[in-house]
Amino acid sequence: MRYFVQFPAGTGDLVAESIGSYVDSPETVYADDSSLVFESDSRYEQVVRMPFVKNSFTVIADVVRGDVDRNVLELADSLRYDGLDSYADSFRVMFHVDGALISVRPNTKRALETEIGYASGQRMVGRGSGEEYWVVGRSDFEYLMLCRRHLRPKRAAKAAGAISHELSSLLIAASKPHPDDVFLDPFAGSGSFPLARMSFPAQRIVYSDSDLERLREEFPASVRGSREIEFLGEDALALSSFGEGAVDVIVTDPPWGEYEELPLALPEFLGAMARSFDRVLDPRTGRFVLLVARMAAEEAGRALAANGLGVGSVHEVLVNGHPATVLVGGREAA
Ligand SMILES: C[S@@+](CC[C@H](N)C(=O)[O-])C[C@H]1O[C@@H](n2cnc3c(N)ncnc32)[C@H](O)[C@@H]1O
Repeated sequence: MRYFVQFPAGTGDLVAESIGSYVDSPETVYADDSSLVFESDSRYEQVVRMPFVKNSFTVIADVVRGDVDRNVLELADSLRYDGLDSYADSFRVMFHVDGALISVRPNTKRALETEIGYASGQRMVGRGSGEEYWVVGRSDFEYLMLCRRHLRPKRAAKAAGAISHELSSLLIAASKPHPDDVFLDPFAGSGSFPLARMSFPAQRIVYSDSDLERLREEFPASVRGSREIEFLGEDALALSSFGEGAVDVIVTDPPWGEYEELPLALPEFLGAMARSFDRVLDPRTGRFVLLVARMAAEEAGRALAANGLGVGSVHEVLVNGHPATVLVGGREAA
C-alpha cells in the first residue's frame, strides 16, 4: 500500500530515522522537509497511529503531473473499474497542490466527485464531517495523487507554549528510548516530553521544572493523572536530588531566552545548564536531545561539547513558526 504523511516542518530526517519502528519495511517514494510518500505492507491503522504524523493518507491513484484539470479527470477515470473502501456515509474533495488549497474547474470537480460517489457508494457533501478525498501535489514530486485522508482519534489540546504531540514524539524517538532508561526533562513546562516518553517503557520518567507549583494547576489531565511520571520542582542548573551519573537520557526544551527573563545572560545560562547535565548524565552512555531557539543553537552546542557532551546530529525545525534547532548527542558523540 502507498501512503502519504505530513509531519512538522524540518523533521524529515528524524521521521526517516524512526518510521521503521512504527510500520513494516517502509520504502520511501518521495520525501521533503514536511511530508513523505512511502510503500509499506502495514495497514492504515498502523500508519494513523504514528505519533509524529499530523495527517496521513492512503494513496488511491496517481498520474504524471501536467495540467491540473486534465490530471484530475485522469484520476477520476482511474476510479471507473475499482470499488473504493468507505469509512463514512458522505465525502468531500479537497485540492492541495504545492502547499496551498487550490480550486479546479467546476466540471472537473464534479467529474471526480461523481466517480468517487459511484466507486464508494458515498454521498457527496460540501462541508462538514465525513470522508475526505484529497488531490495532492508536491512541488518536486512528478505525480499528482488522489488520496483518502485517515480519520484518527482526536488528540488532547495543548497548553499555550507547549510543544506539539508530533514534535515531542519525534524528539523522544530521536533519544533512542531504552527500557532501562532513567529519563529526565529538567525544563518540563506542561510535561509534553515526559508524556510522550510514556509510550515507551522506562525505569523512571522524571518531570522537573522550577515553576512546578504554578504549572501544575494547568497540566493536561494525562500529565496530572499520570502514575508513571515523578514530579520535581528543581532548579535545572543544580538538579540536587540526582547523584552524579544517575540519569541516562535528557530530552528538554530550556527557556529560549527570547521572551522570558533569564537569571543570567544566555551564554552563561547555557554553560551552567551544560555543567549540570554533565554532572547528572551517565559518564559513559549519557544521551541528550535539546530543542533550542535557532539563534542559541551554536552556543548551546559549544557549551555541551565543553562539558563532554558531543552533538551527533542537528535538525532545523519550526516551532509555532519560530526557527528552532534540535541537537541530538551524548557521551559517544563527544
Ligand atoms: C520552553 S519551556 C518548556 C516547555 C515544555 N517543553 C512544554 O512543552 O510545555 C521552559 C521551562 O523551563 C522552566 N525553567 C526556567 N528556568 C528554569 C530553571 N532554572 N530550572 C528549571 N526549570 C526552569 C520554565 O518554568 C518553563 O516551564
